[in-house]
Amino acid sequence: MKKKQKTVWITGASSGIGLAFAKAYAKKGYRLILTARRQGRLEKLAENLGVPCRIETADLFKEKECYRVCEILKEETIDIFINNAGFGNCGDFARTDLSKDMDMIRVNVEAMHILCKEVLRQMQVKGKGTILNVASSAGLLPGGPYMATYYATKAYVVSLTKSIAEEQREKKSGVYVCALCPGPVDTEFNARANVVFALPGITADQCVAEALRGMRLRRTIIVPTFMIRIGAVLQRLVPDFIMLPLVASRQKSKIRIR
Ligand SMILES: NC(=O)c1ccc[n+]([C@@H]2O[C@H](COP(=O)([O-])OP(=O)(O)OC[C@H]3O[C@@H](n4cnc5c(N)ncnc54)[C@H](OP(=O)(O)O)[C@@H]3O)[C@@H](O)[C@H]2O)c1
Repeated sequence: MKKKQKTVWITGASSGIGLAFAKAYAKKGYRLILTARRQGRLEKLAENLGVPCRIETADLFKEKECYRVCEILKEETIDIFINNAGFGNCGDFARTDLSKDMDMIRVNVEAMHILCKEVLRQMQVKGKGTILNVASSAGLLPGGPYMATYYATKAYVVSLTKSIAEEQREKKSGVYVCALCPGPVDTEFNARANVVFALPGITADQCVAEALRGMRLRRTIIVPTFMIRIGAVLQRLVPDFIMLPLVASRQKSKIRIR
């Protein structure tokens, strides 16, 4: 009997890390569901991937859109969910645009949370599946002065993922939940966040290759690249009163628009 083609749903598939995941899973022969706002980009991507694709555009700033896009779950069985859409912003908390903060919380936290829960429920019924929430190495640090909202949103992703992963392990449910915590990756992220990297970035393809390796090893927290992994471990030994000024100084050096 012919094996059923597996389906992966990727949010934020129109550029950067999400797009690299789409290419990687297309190479593995998966069927793809692609979500982002820029429909033209998703259509172009789908034309070139060479596997069946469903395009489901959505503006995940809007709660209603998150629930609408979850309607997919009534028609589809998701084998892998890449919960990736997100963005950042840099600057002094008192001066950055409040509406941009709120949009960031909506997409990085609220949409990520809603979609994760709805997909998890479907996977639990089936008894299997994989959810990868895209966090950031920022989410592993005690805080991020001059990028405060972004760091806080990613700390939420890390905390939520660790808890859900443990619940699933205790239930022996067969659903695997993990968080990807990259350092700098060369994508469109910088332009949106008004930053230039303090450290050289890796490519989105490299980031995804490391993510797939971490998923094969069933890691809960996946940190691509050796140096960022070492940094993530060492920073736990450093008290906040030393760590926070260090992060502040690194962040300040990244701000493009002051
Ligand atoms: N690049 C880095 O250095 C880095 C490091 C750590 C973590 N990350 C995380 O990686 C994830 C992907 O970012 P990236 O680096 O690949 O940046 P990117 O190239 O800017 O891609 C962001 C993706 O998110 C989508 N998105 C943003 N707002 C959305 C909305 N309201 N509704 C639907 N989709 C939305 C964008 O699609 P549309 O604009 O077409 O809607 C785009 O596809 C983010 O969660 C980011 O925080 C990035």
